[in-house]
Amino acid sequence: MDHRNTLRGLFPFDSAYLPEIADVWVESWQRTMPSIDFETRRAWLVDHLIAAEDAGQTIRCALVETGEIAGFVLIDTSTCYLDQIVVGSPWWGKGIAEALLDEARRLAPGRIELDVNQDNPRAVAFYMRNGFQVIAEGVNAKSGLATLKLEWRPAAQAADPS
Ligand SMILES: CC(C)(COP(=O)(O)OP(=O)(O)OC[C@H]1O[C@@H](n2cnc3c(N)ncnc32)[C@H](O)[C@@H]1OP(=O)(O)O)[C@@H](O)C(=O)NCCC(=O)NCCS
Repeated sequence: MDHRNTLRGLFPFDSAYLPEIADVWVESWQRTMPSIDFETRRAWLVDHLIAAEDAGQTIRCALVETGEIAGFVLIDTSTCYLDQIVVGSPWWGKGIAEALLDEARRLAPGRIELDVNQDNPRAVAFYMRNGFQVIAEGVNAKSGLATLKLEWRPAAQAADPS
């Protein structure tokens, strides 16, 4: 069995994980948007995660059987806003992103909202496959890139026109 790809579980954030989380984030985003240098944004991510944790937002890290961190999710359960979901490219397509999203849905069972770059077809396909719907188009204030605002609601609620 390839333990590298077997999810051990989802664990609460620990600052000891920060360097590895940042490695996964830089690698995954660099692969997704090669024209941007994500290494220069590493310090921003570290500060952002620490501030989110201090503000009571929820971070869950996906550990695989080898002990490596394969990805993480950051959700603000007070606003139901999914701020980050990232999986390292060696683990793409292996259900780890889905496990992180399931955890976000468990934490925010009524609704999840997020923004995604329109030019990120892999993420858009992932969200559509998982029941998200486009509720608005927008522009990222920092990058100027076109975005989609997506929303997920549980099936019964989504089908209710009221
Ligand atoms: C977004 C992310 C978490 C999804 O995890 P994943 O394991 O790659 O997702 P999956 O493989 O389950 O789903 C991706 C889907 O995109 C599809 N896909 C891949 N490249 C594609 C492309 N160029 N165009 C359209 N669809 C594409 C895959 O076929 C797959 O769909 P399928 O399973 O129905 O065939 C992960 O890719 C990631 O961390 N990306 C970088 C960070 C990021 O973009 N985060 C989200 C920001 S809002």
